[in-house]
Amino acid sequence: MSDILTGVAVVGSANLDLVVEVSRPPRVGETLLGRAGGRFSGGKGLNQAVASARSGAPTRFCAVVGDDEAADVLQQTLAEAGVEAAVRRSDDAPTGVAYVLALDGGDNSIIVAAGANAELAREDAVAGVAGAAVVLAQLEVPVASVAAALRAGRTAGALTILNAAPAHAATIGMLDDVDVLVVNETECAELGGLDRLHASGAQTVVLTQGAGGVTLHRSGGVPVHVAAFRIDPVDTTGAGDAFCGALAAALSQGEAVEHALVRACAAGAVVAQHHGATTPELSPESIAAFLASR
Ligand code: RIB
Repeated sequence: MSDILTGVAVVGSANLDLVVEVSRPPRVGETLLGRAGGRFSGGKGLNQAVASARSGAPTRFCAVVGDDEAADVLQQTLAEAGVEAAVRRSDDAPTGVAYVLALDGGDNSIIVAAGANAELAREDAVAGVAGAAVVLAQLEVPVASVAAALRAGRTAGALTILNAAPAHAATIGMLDDVDVLVVNETECAELGGLDRLHASGAQTVVLTQGAGGVTLHRSGGVPVHVAAFRIDPVDTTGAGDAFCGALAAALSQGEAVEHALVRACAAGAVVAQHHGATTPELSPESIAAFLASR
């Protein structure tokens, strides 16, 4: 008899986001005055895990943080969202830090100092995905560990999702273990474009296009476009992560990809309307309210 797989396992980064609000990025050699925008829990992995849990799916998060005060902040966020934290504390490296420039109009530029994220080992990743129905990963942690998580998930019968962010050439070699690949237009181009992704084994590619919505590209199939919800964004940091987390949650609950994408767009819209990459405002109810408004 096979084991019953449940919930979502997210393998990825956890960062403390230090946000500065500024009208534009600085030029080389220039000092710009900005406004302190706050300190938030972040990291693509953590954001996605929180979004999955806040979308209603039992969720585990596998990550490595430092043994410091920043890690306490992140653990608190995970606990408040109801995420099961498979989070190891490193004695050697500090918690990852992201320096976020929150630009006028809601866009952002981000620099990440990986810190303890770089210590996430294959063993951590494989243990982290055991028993999950859906495995979700991104590329802010060592790619070998991501590959191991996807392979372990695939072998166990889980549905695997890779959000190839930031883009990394190693993505191509992982595609045989990926059921759903999520990329934005920049990442897609950096990986050689849709045709190359399909030719390299990607069966299902979700191309996110910001305010242009998302398009589902199945190998040999007709593209399916899902329009974005119209919003006035406050802070788009983590909106793409909320999309991925909510997508994983919906797929773990048996939704068809086409429907799951609409829910995921709604989750991204909720997060973009609030400061910080994770917001307690994200819930099955706030997602449902967006869906009802369409
Ligand atoms: O996707 C947004 C995230 O990217 C931020 O929270 C930051 O920590 C970086 O990982």
